[in-house]
Amino acid sequence: MTNNTELSPKKKLGFIGARGMVGRVLLERMREEDDFRFFETFFFSTSQVGQAAPPESHDQKLRDAHSLDELSEMDVIVTCQGGDYTLALHPSLRAHGWKGVWVDAASALRMNKDSCLVLDPLNKDLIKESLEKGVVDYVGSNCTVSLMLLALAGPLKAGVIEWVNSHTYQAASGGGAAHMRELLKGMGFLYERHKDLIDDERGDILKLDQLISKDLRENNDFPSEKFGAPLAANLLPWIDSAVNDGQTREEWKAMVEANKILGLNNTLGVDGTCVRVGALRSHSQALTIKLKKPMGAEEFSALLKDSHEWLEFVENNKEETLRELTPAAASGTLRIKVGRVRALKMAPDFMNVFTVGDQLLWGAAEPLRRFLRQYVNH
Ligand code: HSE
Repeated sequence: MTNNTELSPKKKLGFIGARGMVGRVLLERMREEDDFRFFETFFFSTSQVGQAAPPESHDQKLRDAHSLDELSEMDVIVTCQGGDYTLALHPSLRAHGWKGVWVDAASALRMNKDSCLVLDPLNKDLIKESLEKGVVDYVGSNCTVSLMLLALAGPLKAGVIEWVNSHTYQAASGGGAAHMRELLKGMGFLYERHKDLIDDERGDILKLDQLISKDLRENNDFPSEKFGAPLAANLLPWIDSAVNDGQTREEWKAMVEANKILGLNNTLGVDGTCVRVGALRSHSQALTIKLKKPMGAEEFSALLKDSHEWLEFVENNKEETLRELTPAAASGTLRIKVGRVRALKMAPDFMNVFTVGDQLLWGAAEPLRRFLRQYVNH
């Protein structure tokens, strides 16, 4: 390995989509870790070309994210602009002769046979091999997949897992900024309409329940355009579009992406139900894990703890679970929280685990940021 960060000229980095939610989180993390010092950075925009760029920008103005010539000047491009942009620009840029490294938060290129999924605590060697082989497309994986693999890194490395049945509790922010607002507006909508009964401690609770249920089912003014149904005071067991065999796309991603990250040939089974819940940020997952052989919770917990510096093991008691194992506790942190560990009563070769992590940090921005570091250092 050569460390070329001090010796070679700085790589030119094109950053696209810095104003969106993932882009802003990535920008913040790169600032915190002083990553921009490794690059000569140029910011690109699809809608605000020529306007002021973030202070890290080499030329202070936003460049045109549709200009193949300007993009082609970059050694590496990181995009948080979304899948439609990737599908529109990536093929044209490659056809234009650009051979630089494309780093993407969107799913569009994930399952291309020539792309590498980046989650370095799990697949640093695979990323290294890919860089050495000249692979040029690197993609962050689906947020729930990254968070699940980070939670199970220890047992996966020890090879004790046969399959995982995952049930997700995905926060509104997984849908985007407007989805977060819709959840909060829904909460406000219900409170405003029923505050007399809500605030009256002696009020008729069954009447309140009836009125709210009626609003959830019938009120066309309930803010529900983004999710397609009311989320506040509700949950939605469907995320993204349908694929085959009754799965949603979000559910399908779990197995194909997990196996691609780990360099396995679909030998790790992962399937379950993806559910949108009224958490604002951070995705949770209840995992039922089929072990290759029975193992006590203590032995399994030791494997969980023996993984990486971001894993936070939460003891299986009420106090610590309510304090630490929640979206509220995980949000805005890099902690991968894992708890509720116990063998299932009816089958000792099945382990019960609950995990929660910030899907904008480890679930989206952080693997890309860390890949950029690995790229400049390889
Ligand atoms: N597909 C995720 C969600 C977004 O809808 O929650 C994070 O990758």
